[in-house]
Amino acid sequence: MDPHLLLRTGQFTLTVLAGLLSACSSTQPLQSPHSPKAYCTMNEVTNDESRPPATSPITLEELGLLQESLLWSEDDAQALRQSHDILKPQTEDILDVWYGFVASTPQLVKYFSNAKTGQPDGNYLAAVRVRFGQWISDTAKADYNQEWLNYQYEIGLRHHSIGKNKTDGVDSVPIIHLRYIPALAYPITATLKPFLAKGGASQADVERMHQAWIKSVLLQSILWSQPYVKAGEF
Ligand code: HEM
Repeated sequence: MDPHLLLRTGQFTLTVLAGLLSACSSTQPLQSPHSPKAYCTMNEVTNDESRPPATSPITLEELGLLQESLLWSEDDAQALRQSHDILKPQTEDILDVWYGFVASTPQLVKYFSNAKTGQPDGNYLAAVRVRFGQWISDTAKADYNQEWLNYQYEIGLRHHSIGKNKTDGVDSVPIIHLRYIPALAYPITATLKPFLAKGGASQADVERMHQAWIKSVLLQSILWSQPYVKAGEF
């Protein structure tokens, strides 16, 4: 799939474009009245003072069993790490493609809209974009420790009504409906392949890295579904 087909820029609203451009032109996290710490690394998992720092309800051992169930191997971790330096310099181009898809798909961009006006909130899009860029790097580092697992739970909470909108102090729709989260795993990973191929790796290595990314995004979208599931049913 040609990622540029997904851009469909003609369908962008001006508000969305403003948000995208402000993020592209800055490497600095955007300031928010809520807290500038919101745009950081996995170390500072939440600035939402209404709840305690997220601690994963599943253990690292349970994570291992889940990975095993999706045919995860150490080779996948190595392939992800190989992708890190290939993807890093292309981060903004990757985000342009992913955001282009979301921005031009009304049922998705709705989740970035202002609850009152129904229009996309450019500042919200831009603030999340910074964290999304960090996530590409974190995913490619493939360092599966307790901090990473806790942050997975935090990301799930931020998609769910428990945490959505809090990091950026925005007034947007309260929850991302669960059904769209695994759905987005496909466009995200399908459009990544041309970027993996740009690093000069062999075709076999591009395929290895791509498969590892598919597994990792699937794994993460599963972990993020936890807040949506009744206690004891995850
Ligand atoms: C596999 C699917 C998905 C991936 C990989 C993904 C990735 C991410 C990442 C990395 C963040 C930032 C997390 C952080 O705060 O550090 C985020 C937040 C967000 N995502 Fe997703 N996402 C997915 C599905 C979706 C879907 C389907 C939507 C609906 C449009 C969506 C909308 C949002 C919104 C609105 C936020 C900001 C939440 C908040 O903090 O208020 N995501 N996503």
